Amino acid sequence: MTIDLTHAQDTARVLTEALPYIRRFAGKTIVVKYGGNAMKDDTMIASFARDIVLMKLVGMNPVVVHGGGPQIGSHLEKLGKKSEFIQGMRVTDEETMDVVEMMLGGLVNKAVVAALNQQGGRAVGLTGKDGGLIRARRMRLDGHDLGQVGEVERIDPRVVTHLEAGGFIPVIAPVGVGEHGEAYNINADVAAGKLAAVLQAEKIIFLTNAPGVLSKRNEILTGLTVPQVEGLIADGTISGGMVPKVRYALDAVNSGVKSAHIIDGRLEHSVLLELFTDQGIGTLIKG
Ligand SMILES: Nc1ncnc2c1ncn2[C@@H]1O[C@H](COP(=O)(O)OP(=O)(O)OP(=O)(O)O)[C@@H](O)[C@H]1O
Ligand SMILES: [Mg+2]
Repeated sequence: MTIDLTHAQDTARVLTEALPYIRRFAGKTIVVKYGGNAMKDDTMIASFARDIVLMKLVGMNPVVVHGGGPQIGSHLEKLGKKSEFIQGMRVTDEETMDVVEMMLGGLVNKAVVAALNQQGGRAVGLTGKDGGLIRARRMRLDGHDLGQVGEVERIDPRVVTHLEAGGFIPVIAPVGVGEHGEAYNINADVAAGKLAAVLQAEKIIFLTNAPGVLSKRNEILTGLTVPQVEGLIADGTISGGMVPKVRYALDAVNSGVKSAHIIDGRLEHSVLLELFTDQGIGTLIKG
């Protein structure tokens, strides 16, 4: 048998280049928010899963929080139910909440768990109800009734740290639990940002369906600060689902998370490109 020496040496070079990053992040918690738009097909989910399992194998502690907006939307459509959105949030009546909990905690969560385990990981799926992880209350928005849309009241991370210590990869659906055991629909970016802060994570990475935070001329904006972000929201450059992402990325870094990154989850190996290269990719947000 002959081996292609040049190719083998390229592979060896790539591995040694990753070494300082592997050393730097060993034992560190990295929260990865996996957006519903970046999990459109099985190939994308499998590629994401390979990156996360590799992180775990080289000694990092990835914690996955996932969304599922498109998946919830298409199921509601099948049921003939229309959603109303107020400031980017889905008005969630009781029937809609059941669908949200079934889709996020059920189908979407288990698809991510199964993909990670298929790649040799040991993933465990949870919702915010498990272990009292995400305690929530009804979100108040002046003059609007959003139903079961919740805001995070507090996070009890013990179930996550136990899983991490046991070598498992926690996979969290952003369903919160209220004081009477009722379920709340929580934006996954908010849940991920708050969890990263409580865990004092090294990094939070948001995987979405855009190359980063884009300017009006479609350039990737990076190194964003609080006043810049508020300006970009006020002038409409940042809108819809990007608003909670940048707000809670900032919230996380201002609460002790070292850096936040908004990157393109549709790009193969985007997580590894972010972790293992000097320049990284997408939008960087620092405290
Ligand atoms: N300035 C901006 N730069 C990039 N994307 C933007 C900007 N402003 C608004 N967006 C929109 O934000 C969307 C990403 O947020 P969205 O909530 O749709 O996805 P997600 O958070 O990745 O998935 P999920 O909500 O399922 O977790 C982009 O697809 C884009 O349409
Ligand atoms: Mg979103």
